[in-house]
Amino acid sequence: MISRDMLMCVAVFENMQLLPLFPRFKMELGFGEKSVEEVCKTHGVNTDFFLEIANSYLDEAYIPGEGLSLFSLGTVISYLKETHTYYVETALPMVEEKIYLLLDQSSLSDKEVNLVTVFFNDYKLEFLTHILEEEQHILPYILELEKQSALKKPDSEFAQKLQSYSIREFEQGHDRLETSLEHLSRLIIKNLPPFEDFQLCQQVLGDLSDLVKDLTDHANMEDKILIPRVAELEKQLISRIDTP
Ligand SMILES: [Fe+2]
Ligand SMILES: [Fe+2]
Repeated sequence: MISRDMLMCVAVFENMQLLPLFPRFKMELGFGEKSVEEVCKTHGVNTDFFLEIANSYLDEAYIPGEGLSLFSLGTVISYLKETHTYYVETALPMVEEKIYLLLDQSSLSDKEVNLVTVFFNDYKLEFLTHILEEEQHILPYILELEKQSALKKPDSEFAQKLQSYSIREFEQGHDRLETSLEHLSRLIIKNLPPFEDFQLCQQVLGDLSDLVKDLTDHANMEDKILIPRVAELEKQLISRIDTP
């Protein structure tokens, strides 16, 4: 667990798995002797928010619900969007490149290569569709809901929309992206013949495992923090509209 007074460099030395978080907060390495709080301040990041995110990222059993409920939905959404960008621009292309390199250097049959290729392409499509839906529809809806909730008199068109739509609809169809990725690791470990380049195979499995963990953290934040708060906000807004 990291705290505000720790040196940021120590927090990272002891928890290297935190590294993918820094670009999401637009923080760069070279922390010198600055504490976690000082680094956050330098980058205009709310220290409590950073600590909640980092500690829940480090420990799946850490429940960020209470702490994160202190922050605006806008703050949580900015972080989720940065995470989407990391997946689309960095994590997924990185793992894709290594998988194709592994396949290129392997002595797998055409059928086996095809199996992995089709699996990965299907997954990529599912992944990008999932993120696009959230970026284009769900997150803008939540931001608008937060904006309307702060108004004395919410927009009537929005209020009408609320009568027929709830975030619970999205929740029902919200897939866990990490599950298919685990199947890919299982395919490599269990079903395919061994790869000659074990080092590269190990890197692919390591990258897949890191991404699974990251996606689990992300989905937990959406399912356990974002959705319940949005549902509560919807309820409050509806009851305000119903009682003029
Ligand atoms: Fe997401
Ligand atoms: Fe999601």
